[in-house]
Amino acid sequence: MKPKITITIDGWSSCGKSTLAKQLAKVLGYVYIDSGAMYRAITLYFLRNHIDWTDEKEVTEALNNISIEFHYNDVSQQSEIYLNGENVEYVIRDLVIAEKVSDVAAIESVRSFAVAQQQKLGMYKGIVMDGRDIGTTVFPDAELKIFMTADTAVRVERRFKELYAKNPNITIEEVKNNLEMRDYIDSNRKISPLRKAEDAIEIDNTNLSMEEQLRKAIDLAEKKLKRLA
Ligand code: DC
Repeated sequence: MKPKITITIDGWSSCGKSTLAKQLAKVLGYVYIDSGAMYRAITLYFLRNHIDWTDEKEVTEALNNISIEFHYNDVSQQSEIYLNGENVEYVIRDLVIAEKVSDVAAIESVRSFAVAQQQKLGMYKGIVMDGRDIGTTVFPDAELKIFMTADTAVRVERRFKELYAKNPNITIEEVKNNLEMRDYIDSNRKISPLRKAEDAIEIDNTNLSMEEQLRKAIDLAEKKLKRLA
């Protein structure tokens, strides 16, 4: 049997991590897991159920009532996230969630809950997972770690286009403020802040096409796989 590796893709908000992770997983025949979707789904649950997430006891009780699963959708050809049996893949992309998710993701019990599930999902390798702490905390022994960056202006523009297609009332300032706020909270929180793992390889995609960044990632994965063969 061909050896399989674990691939982690971390980096700043909206720098194309999930696009690359999805494509790379497809090429390699690996499972793709969007770890940010888990924090977004938890945030959605907290908002819908009016959970006061500054109250530790309330958070612990709420987490006991949350079940998260990923199922592959043949039509969209991607794995989609389910919160207590409901497909929430699309609602969690809303700016309302983006405005709160970094605060929720900074809570210790929320992180332990999500990280335990992420580690279980990656138990058999053959996985590409993207997030903020995947190479540092979730899979510190991953064979291939990629850290993605891109200029802020380019990231704002990309995210604005994505959100504007769904909501034409959105402004570029709102998107910029949200992105900068999330970058700040994600990289300054106490537990598992966003940082590049020492052994991660950086890809700055400010001036790269999707094909170019995918080619780079495939080359990196092939090199690692060759060494294991
Ligand atoms: O990748 P994303 O934008 O969907 O992630 C949403 C938020 O979740 C992000 O602002 C930070 C948090 N997150 C995290 O703390 N750790 C991860 N592994 C993934 C996401």
